[in-house]
Amino acid sequence: MNVGILGSGVVGQTLGSGFIKHGHPVKIGTSNAGKLNDWLKSAGSNASVGSFEDAAKFGDVVVLAVKGTAALSVLEKAGSKNLANKTILDTTNPIADTAPVNGVLQFFTDLNDSLMEQLQNKYPAANFVKVFSCVGSALMVNPDFGGTKPTMFIAGNNENAKGNVKNILDVFGFEIEDMGNVEAARAIEPLCILWCIPGFRENRWMHAFKLLKK
Ligand SMILES: NC(=O)c1ccc[n+]([C@@H]2O[C@H](COP(=O)([O-])OP(=O)(O)OC[C@H]3O[C@@H](n4cnc5c(N)ncnc54)[C@H](OP(=O)(O)O)[C@@H]3O)[C@@H](O)[C@H]2O)c1
Repeated sequence: MNVGILGSGVVGQTLGSGFIKHGHPVKIGTSNAGKLNDWLKSAGSNASVGSFEDAAKFGDVVVLAVKGTAALSVLEKAGSKNLANKTILDTTNPIADTAPVNGVLQFFTDLNDSLMEQLQNKYPAANFVKVFSCVGSALMVNPDFGGTKPTMFIAGNNENAKGNVKNILDVFGFEIEDMGNVEAARAIEPLCILWCIPGFRENRWMHAFKLLKK
């Protein structure tokens, strides 16, 4: 499975290395290829870099890992025909450019809307699945919690796409909670706000959510 990653930040690089570790060729898309020289050197022969359009074309599945405010414009650069009928792993959060208040991030969406709904509405032929949005990049690939698997909350309209994502999460070491359709991103995206509070207030960044059930 070829993986096209839109985004050259820590999430794009971390997931890129994770997919390569699990045997998948990866192309990261960016408008600034120079940022990825070190990643390219360390990631090996299954790694490549190109434009956002190149990465979207390359991917059998596509990972969206850009700043939330840039998500729509990056998808436009990627090209709708390169996204159609593909699973899009949407890691983004709608974080506003305004500063956090007492450690609480501000969003440019509200509770009756989500960034993923905006993306899905704009690109109806692409199959967005919210995933990896509620855990820090350092814990996205086979996180070690001493034998306990953290929970990854996912949502999206297309069952096949969610099936692809569930297979990926299984290999990446997560327990999966499928919260349903795209609207559930209204509840999943704000988990990022909660996740970040201990980081901003106490510099604690190495935690993940676990849903206890009986
Ligand atoms: N960092 C985490 O631990 C974490 C965890 C969970 C979810 N997320 C979410 O994952 C996404 C990626 O996060 P990240 O920390 O890897 O990187 P980021 O700094 O949020 O995003 C960097 C990417 O956004 C692109 N971009 C396009 N227009 C931009 C603009 N005007 N300003 C800044 N960047 C722009 C950059 O493009 P170029 O490649 O052309 O420079 C780059 O590819 C975000 O939506 C974030 O909320 C992050």
